[in-house]
Amino acid sequence: MGSGKILFALLTLFSQFMAAFSNSQQNENPSVDFHGGEKRTGSSLLSEGVQLRIEKDYVVLDNGILQVTLSNPGGHVTGIQYNGLENLLEADNGESDRGYWDVVWSGEGVTRKKGRLDRLEGTNLTVVVETEEKVEISFTRMWNSSLQAKVVPLNFDKRYVMLRGSSGFYTYAIYEHLKGWPAFDLDNTRIVFKLAKQKFRYMAIADNRQRYMPLPEDRSPERGKTLAYPEAVLLVNPIEPEFKGEVDDKYLYSCESQDTGVHGWISADPRVGFWQITPSNEFRTGGPLKQFLTSHVGPTTLTVMHSTHYAGANITMKIGPDEPWKKVYGPAFAYLNSLSDGGDPLSLWDDAKKQMVNEVHMWPYDFIASEDFPPAKQRGSVGGRLLVLDRYVSNATISAEGSYVGMAAPGEVGSWQLESKGYQFWTKTDEGGNFTINGIRPGDYNLYAWVPGFIGEYRFISVIRINPGCDIDIGDLVYEPPRNGSTLWEIGFPDRSAAEFYIPDANPEYINKLYLIHGRYRQYGLWERYAELYPSEDLVFTVGKSDYSKDWFFAQVTRKKDNATYEGTTWQIKFLLDEVNERAEYKLRLALATANVAELEVRVNEPNANPVFSTGQIGKDNTIARHGIHGLYRLFNADIPVAQLRIGNNTLFLTQTARISPFQGVMYDYIRLEGPPQPHKTRKEI
Ligand SMILES: *[C@@H]1O[C@H](CO)[C@@H](O)[C@H](O)[C@H]1NC(C)=O
Ligand SMILES: *[C@@H]1O[C@H](CO)[C@@H](O)[C@H](O)[C@H]1NC(C)=O
Ligand SMILES: *[C@@H]1O[C@H](CO)[C@@H](O)[C@H](O)[C@H]1NC(C)=O
Ligand SMILES: *[C@@H]1O[C@H](CO)[C@@H](O)[C@H](O)[C@H]1NC(C)=O
Ligand SMILES: *[C@@H]1O[C@H](CO)[C@@H](O)[C@H](O)[C@H]1NC(C)=O
Ligand SMILES: *[C@@H]1O[C@H](CO)[C@@H](O)[C@H](O)[C@H]1NC(C)=O
Ligand SMILES: *[C@@H]1O[C@H](CO)[C@@H](O)[C@H](O)[C@H]1NC(C)=O
Ligand SMILES: *[C@@H]1O[C@H](CO)[C@@H](O)[C@H](O)[C@H]1NC(C)=O
Repeated sequence: MGSGKILFALLTLFSQFMAAFSNSQQNENPSVDFHGGEKRTGSSLLSEGVQLRIEKDYVVLDNGILQVTLSNPGGHVTGIQYNGLENLLEADNGESDRGYWDVVWSGEGVTRKKGRLDRLEGTNLTVVVETEEKVEISFTRMWNSSLQAKVVPLNFDKRYVMLRGSSGFYTYAIYEHLKGWPAFDLDNTRIVFKLAKQKFRYMAIADNRQRYMPLPEDRSPERGKTLAYPEAVLLVNPIEPEFKGEVDDKYLYSCESQDTGVHGWISADPRVGFWQITPSNEFRTGGPLKQFLTSHVGPTTLTVMHSTHYAGANITMKIGPDEPWKKVYGPAFAYLNSLSDGGDPLSLWDDAKKQMVNEVHMWPYDFIASEDFPPAKQRGSVGGRLLVLDRYVSNATISAEGSYVGMAAPGEVGSWQLESKGYQFWTKTDEGGNFTINGIRPGDYNLYAWVPGFIGEYRFISVIRINPGCDIDIGDLVYEPPRNGSTLWEIGFPDRSAAEFYIPDANPEYINKLYLIHGRYRQYGLWERYAELYPSEDLVFTVGKSDYSKDWFFAQVTRKKDNATYEGTTWQIKFLLDEVNERAEYKLRLALATANVAELEVRVNEPNANPVFSTGQIGKDNTIARHGIHGLYRLFNADIPVAQLRIGNNTLFLTQTARISPFQGVMYDYIRLEGPPQPHKTRKEI
């Protein structure tokens, strides 16, 4: 399919959606009248304080803008009444299946393969604050040994907060494990909202990631065909024919933490938006690049705070039997907005983004009752300037613009990628390399940083203690990236992603129309395209001739054979050396953007010799099956024995040996061969 044709199809779909939305549009240039947003000044609303009504089986929070009903004492959200809609949540679902917190866990005596799902059913309701300005309620369950292996061995306290004049409600939870309680593994924890499926049909997770969505029935065996991974379904006979032939998969909508501040759904009639806003990622696992699910067919919208996705079992939180642990997840804001007739429903997304910015300005919230959530004045900040020194690039330090700088639990370089028990605080440097991280909770941290354009990672030499109210100026930090010689050649750009490499067009049978132009790596099934492009001979890249954006497939995957077995693949990099310096070190820098049950071997000039380097088996990121472009970052530094190099033509062989499934393999971030300190010529990949 040509891209023009696809674009046309996309535009047709879009205009159909807009036509459906504009039935009641009277006016060509309607004045948009938002409801939602900042605190209202309308006098009729100011007079309405927050009301709390406690019934036998329900608790109702009402501020005149919306009314939230929760089960008592379970603490599940069973109803949200707003703007003439009796319930924004799907009333056909059971009451514990509409708006809830849950955890996936495993422990001794818990046999279910993927761990046990615990929907955190509260046993006790406490009213924490009840004033006209604010109501905060708490649902708790205290663990005791008679609950052994039945529920996750945690005390939890789920909180719901409603403010006067606020078009939404906040929720957060405190999990606590005490010394002497059973050990357990926490795989996943999240907040889930399942919206009314007849109403919420348009999903938005980014400016360029929003679309009209299929219905949940379209994924049923009668209407859809399950693909190689059960989450992925080909829509064969959807209720609305325009979705026919598309692939639906919730992982098509996953998102990095740093971009997950707001996402949700729009209803056209009435014009209502429902959004999950997380103004901070401090409580999320794994740092700013960790990917999480967002919203997907259901219509479901999630705030995932901890998961193994795109990282694997290594990121599972393991709580030992004698380990005291406590953590506050959230608050997250469930934001509702609406529009009078005539306004463009999609403008609800723009309003939701503005509201996210407002929430970020208010962070850390000053209206949270729990002492476990420190307000701004009890937090600290760290500022400084990050510089890079790579003498093969410049003898002077370079300001590290656009670098990631973060405070996370003390550990090795890169340990924050798998860190889940504590809190992380990240920012990006400005054009001068300057940074300030505000709102850091008291505690001990390492400062970590990495710089797009350079391999490896910086860690400040000593642990930094944050005391309440502290404002630390750490001064100039100089990152010296790994480097042992001049660049003989390089492939890719070091930024922890494989997005710059060759991304094939999707198989026309497996299209998601959202990703025809941008985010093309998110299409289903691209792993199969490798064997189509390279049916028998593997990829060969010639330094000086090849172009990595065209000639370097984004993932080194397995190749399927006719008999449905798989084989590993060997990629070659051909390069010329004018000289070989016997006394020099030749170093190969292999930066991987992800790995999945893979093993990568390096050979030089002798395809059948023992490898000069092997990664060993690495990774369970599962990025290939889940349409990501990176998982965890891994940097390998391999010595290339000078005796194996030749003056003239050389070949580097990269063999990915694992070959059980189509989802095994690696994605490269960047590869560089370093040679003698001062070669006669510096050859760069062009
Ligand atoms: C339930 O909450 C009340 C306060 O609302 C408290 O007095 C009581 O001790 C709690 N009960 C349990 C079992 O936690
Ligand atoms: C243990 O907790 C459960 C659930 O909260 C409660 O029903 C039970 O009474 C508790 N048992 C003891 C011995 O405290
Ligand atoms: C990840 O898990 C594997 C397998 O259990 C283990 O060999 C490896 O050391 C772990 N890596 C990290 C960084 O924890
Ligand atoms: C850095 O200085 C050395 C010694 O003066 C010089 O040989 C080298 O070319 C300089 N490097 C750069 C990138 O300018
Ligand atoms: C960065 O910080 C340095 C030293 O603190 C200061 O001199 C410089 O003006 C700052 N640059 C920018 C762009 O803010
Ligand atoms: C190679 O680089 C490392 C740091 O990346 C440095 O510690 C080491 O001294 C270097 N070796 C040589 C021979 O330059
Ligand atoms: C599948 O075919 C490959 C060669 O194409 C062969 O090496 C392999 O043994 C075959 N496997 C089975 C299970 O037949
Ligand atoms: C390197 O190989 C190419 C063909 O791939 C050939 O044209 C060229 O002459 C060779 N160069 C040397 C120095 O052997």
